Amino acid sequence: MPKLRSKFICQECGFQSEQWLGRCPECSSYNSFVEELVGSASDERKLDITLRQKAEPITAIVKRGFVRERSGIDEIDRVLGGGVVRGSTVLLGGEPGIGKSTLMLQMLHSFLSIDKERSALYVAAEESIEQIAMRADRLKVASPSIMILPDTDVTLVCEEIERLKPSIVVVDSIQAMVHPELVSAAGSVSQVRECASELVRMAKVTGTSIFMIGHVTKEGVIAGPKVLEHMIDTVLYMEGDQHYALRLLRVTKNRFGPVGEVGLFKMTEDGLEPVTNPSEYLLSGSQVETSGNMAAAVIEGKRPLLLEVQALVAPTYFGAPRRLVTGMDYNRACILIAVLERRADVRLGDQDVYINVAGGIRVTESALDLPAALAIASSRYDVVIPRGVAAFGEVGLGGEVRPVPLPERRLLEMERLGFKTCFGPLYPNGGRFGGELKGLSYIAVRQVGEAISKLLGLGSSGEWRHRRKGIASAKRGDKSSAGTEDA
Ligand code: TYD
Ligand code: MG
Repeated sequence: MPKLRSKFICQECGFQSEQWLGRCPECSSYNSFVEELVGSASDERKLDITLRQKAEPITAIVKRGFVRERSGIDEIDRVLGGGVVRGSTVLLGGEPGIGKSTLMLQMLHSFLSIDKERSALYVAAEESIEQIAMRADRLKVASPSIMILPDTDVTLVCEEIERLKPSIVVVDSIQAMVHPELVSAAGSVSQVRECASELVRMAKVTGTSIFMIGHVTKEGVIAGPKVLEHMIDTVLYMEGDQHYALRLLRVTKNRFGPVGEVGLFKMTEDGLEPVTNPSEYLLSGSQVETSGNMAAAVIEGKRPLLLEVQALVAPTYFGAPRRLVTGMDYNRACILIAVLERRADVRLGDQDVYINVAGGIRVTESALDLPAALAIASSRYDVVIPRGVAAFGEVGLGGEVRPVPLPERRLLEMERLGFKTCFGPLYPNGGRFGGELKGLSYIAVRQVGEAISKLLGLGSSGEWRHRRKGIASAKRGDKSSAGTEDA
């Protein structure tokens, strides 16, 4: 290994220093110094790689293509765009304890069981090899073709990769790796970047696919300001609530396939299990019929998910009303509450509002607006929404219900699960989605107030209006729909 030197370089102007400085003497920027490897040695090494490559016609490369190997776990193959590309690098991010190491161990096992010629290397930079071996044994994924290397030195790991020539490598985790030429601590931006670039180089040269596990910080970024994402081919994030079993595997960058796909797993005693029917899984918890519960159809990646959004509206007895939201964006929920108050006459100013998306899933899609609004109204007037009713749609500030993408997928999923009625936005085709919707009636609504009056009227045969008169302070004739905006 040639001798390398580390220097601190200002990321703003390129000023070099032997030691870390808080403020650059050249351009006066603060906190801009990052340790980097420089010097003739690394130039020499780069030259060495470039000399090995020869230019060739682009068509020849098109013909050759790249080799995609199935990992054996469909949910992983789906997010990777069809399988693991040979010689590619994948970053798997997620909070500590979410199940990254477990997923990788299970993937190695299924990857190897597809083809007996394949071999794997697991770099245990974080946990002891005994811990990993015992877990693999418990998960029944231990196999003699999985080699474990307890090392944190990236140069030694690379030497081992060159010696063993495994088909796949998992580095657990990239933050625990160190480059011996750098003086900074493991996990620092410069260490993570140098170690990753060393591994990326290794993947390209040897054709080994390398998966790197990276912990995300509380802000949700992998090891500092996106230091890795530009050099890695595919970036996956594993997310979920630690108190729930559901785990989502998202792809945020993919040089070999589309982004936006999600894989779904549930954490069990025997490791991670793929969830093939997520809607059934998410709705399975809704046993009791109470007001404030509403089924919603959202899209995660390209998959329709039916889930339950719950709202509880209770009088405020002291101070300002509280709004507590889990599973959806807090600000969006606050906007919805204001829209309900102003546009649909649902009085919430003296009420606490609690919103929860059941199942521990976090929904970012705006299609949750209408179901959440209906759940709030249902709880406010204490009218139970009958089973078999679902909704989707974005709600604008004017109270208007706006179209969201892929309505057909949502409706087909509802139909599959035996839903009878769906409230949603008005689409240009008039809300008739082909002839394929048999047992499901689609009720297109323009305004959130219109949806509330139609839905709550549906539940308890007009009884809600009677109750509403008692609750709401609006002085409107009970024949008019609850909040069709006429101002
Ligand atoms: P782990 O894969 O170690 O998480 P990470 O590598 O992302 O830090 O998984 C840790 C959690 O998963 C741990 O809290 C226990 C849980 N778990 C199970 O519930 N079942 C299992 O079979 C395994 C292996 C872990
Ligand atoms: Mg781990």
